[in-house]
Amino acid sequence: MNFPTDFLWGAATASYQIEGAALEDGRGECIWTRFSHTDGKVKHGHTGDVACDHYHRYAEDVALMQQLGLRAYRFSISWPRLLPEGTGAPNQAGIDFYNRLLDKLLEVGITPFGTLYHWDLPQRLEDRGGWTSADMPEWFAEYTALAAKHYGDRLKHWITLNEPWCTAFLGYYFGIHAPGIRDERAAFRAAHHTHLAHGRAIQVLREMLPQAQLGITLNLAVEQPLTDDPRDQQAAQIADGFQNRWFLDPVFKGQYPADLLALLRERGTLEGIDPEAVRLAAQPLDFLGINYYTRQIVRHDPNSPHGFTVVLPENVPVTDMNWEIYPQGLRDLLLRVHREYAPPAIYVTENGAAFPEPEHVEGDLLDDPQRVAYLQSHFAAAAEALAQGVPLKGYFVWSLLDNFEWAEGYTKRFGIVHVDFTTQKRTLKRSALYLKQVIQDSAVG
Ligand code: FCB
Repeated sequence: MNFPTDFLWGAATASYQIEGAALEDGRGECIWTRFSHTDGKVKHGHTGDVACDHYHRYAEDVALMQQLGLRAYRFSISWPRLLPEGTGAPNQAGIDFYNRLLDKLLEVGITPFGTLYHWDLPQRLEDRGGWTSADMPEWFAEYTALAAKHYGDRLKHWITLNEPWCTAFLGYYFGIHAPGIRDERAAFRAAHHTHLAHGRAIQVLREMLPQAQLGITLNLAVEQPLTDDPRDQQAAQIADGFQNRWFLDPVFKGQYPADLLALLRERGTLEGIDPEAVRLAAQPLDFLGINYYTRQIVRHDPNSPHGFTVVLPENVPVTDMNWEIYPQGLRDLLLRVHREYAPPAIYVTENGAAFPEPEHVEGDLLDDPQRVAYLQSHFAAAAEALAQGVPLKGYFVWSLLDNFEWAEGYTKRFGIVHVDFTTQKRTLKRSALYLKQVIQDSAVG
């Protein structure tokens, strides 16, 4: 595997999944606090109230990153920590947490990548319509400006949104993520406002921080038809529209994909949305962040609302999330995005896997051969894309720590570092040492 000597290897996390201190030091309630405290929404009633207690243990966690030789760290800033009401009066104690974190990272030479929104929307804004509200882009612009003012001197890599597909569709269509709404029109309105909010945030950041590197993180997947039957192929095309192009096209072309637009118009899904307005999303970017986990096999299904169903073929290797392990999908996806959208730079901002692991570990190392193999095969796929000309600049493993895996609670372990949620003890997994070795090897070219 050949990676350039300046390749930015790192690991990623998100505020609500690791910080805990959910209502401490003035942090406002967020939609995940509300959702996880609602009966039946999260497995075993788990919440992010304590999570990895990273809010108090960030220094220990940065020391771990240093020990592993990470060059970059992707984290997210919690909107309700900075603005408990979503807008208006800032909370200095919350602002200071990320000041401390940034200072620590820079002290040990780790490049911070900050995501402005990784799903912990202030509950106050959800009460006012959340992502379905046409005010969202301006609320987000206000929050962005506050973060830029406080962190712009040290934070040089900014990601506006993490996986707006999940925000809109898991949150407002499938209802399995906060705020738990099941309404197709609301979901497309939410998606529309993520595009506009992204566009406004880039405008604000460009103006305030002309030197900064700006991007967005999308969760993209390879969509393949189950068979050669033209109906399956058509179904895969629609699935690709939902998963990939509904987000890539606004960001890079300032428009919605025509095929899906026609289909949704026919269903009346887009009532109240002006599709032309999405041109605001197409601000020049410095990079695209891609989160890749799996591929999707799609078949025609006349009984599903949009004519397709995702199927998991039998006997394919899967992770604990029941996601197929399909490394070549990462190479194919990188090549496709490069060919069709040509972002100036690409980072894999998340890739990793959950496997069953014990809650408590004896000793000081946990063997996780499946995760090592998963990472190895995906790094190799990325190296192939790189060799074929994709401007891939870095790679963040999801995740540094076992953490609160949203609706799955603490039952799915993605960390390269094990966390005992009773004692908060961190234990390295073999995959962490593997990553360390890969980083060392690529440093010498
Ligand atoms: C992604 C999320 C991240 C994590 C991984 C497993 O969709 O961005 O927070 O939950 O999946």
